[in-house]
Amino acid sequence: MEPNKEIAEQALREAEQSNPGVWADHSRYVAQACRNIAQRCKHLSAERAYVLGLLHDIGRYAGVSGEKHLTDGYHYCAERGWEKAAQICISHAFMIQDINTSVAAFDMSEADYLFMKEFVAKAVYDDYDRLVQLCDALALPTGFCILEKRFVDVTIRYGVHEATVDRWKKILEIKAYFEKEIGCSIYSVLPGVEANSIL
Ligand SMILES: [Fe+2]
Repeated sequence: MEPNKEIAEQALREAEQSNPGVWADHSRYVAQACRNIAQRCKHLSAERAYVLGLLHDIGRYAGVSGEKHLTDGYHYCAERGWEKAAQICISHAFMIQDINTSVAAFDMSEADYLFMKEFVAKAVYDDYDRLVQLCDALALPTGFCILEKRFVDVTIRYGVHEATVDRWKKILEIKAYFEKEIGCSIYSVLPGVEANSIL
């Protein structure tokens, strides 16, 4: 089971102290987007979605890294018994369940790489995994933005990857899925998205 909102917020503050960076504010906006969308889905808990969004990049506590933050986050959450949060620390980077589709460097240990490869192939995703994958692409450190802006932001930082277009397509599919669930545009539940998208 995941921690409550207060414990998750405290964990993020501590992680931010250990590796200060814009990633922490990005995580806070991801959490808010998860909550706002989940609130409108009958089968999801808004608080659980918020906590899972808040913790998705918690592995960055360990320092500046590439995909190592995925396995660091997995271990951090698993050690605390936060099983679903641990899964999402990895799954948020794999909207396509193939180890070769992530965009940053595999800078974790060989053992962690092999573990992650197997984990990604075998994981069964639910709507919390999909919601964090979507919301990760809706949040800059300064607020919510349209997916296309975040796509470009990530691609400028990490470069064009063989899987880039397929990743974008998958996120757009997830957007359409949640819009069907909530009965309106996801952007209508993300305050400030217009202003932040044209900044
Ligand atoms: Fe993220």
